[in-house]
Amino acid sequence: MKFFIDTANIEDIKRAYGWGIVDGVTTNPSLVAKENCEFKSRILEICGVVDGPVSAEVVSLDAEGMIKEARELASWHPNIVIKIPMTKDGMQAVRTLSDEGIRTNVTLVFSPNQALIAAKAGGAYISVFVGRLDDAGHDGMEVVRDTVDMIDTYGFDSEVIVASIRHPIHVVEAVRAGAHVATIPFKILDQMFTHPLTDIGIQRFLEDWAKVPK
Ligand code: E4P
Repeated sequence: MKFFIDTANIEDIKRAYGWGIVDGVTTNPSLVAKENCEFKSRILEICGVVDGPVSAEVVSLDAEGMIKEARELASWHPNIVIKIPMTKDGMQAVRTLSDEGIRTNVTLVFSPNQALIAAKAGGAYISVFVGRLDDAGHDGMEVVRDTVDMIDTYGFDSEVIVASIRHPIHVVEAVRAGAHVATIPFKILDQMFTHPLTDIGIQRFLEDWAKVPK
């Protein structure tokens, strides 16, 4: 399972990447807006830190506009993956870009039907938003399971990203579902390291070590 970090905060990205467990980064317009930074320079800064796919999202709604934006974004750095929303225009753009060898991450996927269309359009990644589905009273992870099954059954090349992660158990469930990637907010990645018994264990070892004659 690959871990992407779901943020545009450069300090958090540097810290998490330094832990040696981050394979890529996902951003979206809301995450970038929170940082109060210039988009292109931040994306390039991220590409300078992380050696892996970095998702940057288009904001046009028509296929032509998305394709134009995507080509521009892709020209910035070879690791940039273009995030495109799950719409008819979006999938038209994904097909064109995929045929040109530009990798896409189909975002805002909430159903197995949408995931199937994203795979058929040639999306390199399919982002299923589990937290937003759970918030709306659905079982987000069921959509992940169905999508992973569908990809395995038909041999699509797409990788399933579990997105909109709200807590560490979502990551465990993503593993159980066989998802290829979990994109994880910094706070949750940080929480995943923690167990009180680890802290107690370290303290006890140090106390006992202090009693050993040296
Ligand atoms: C990542 O690709 C998504 O944009 C992100 O996980 C969405 O998370 P949210 O539902 O917490 O905004």
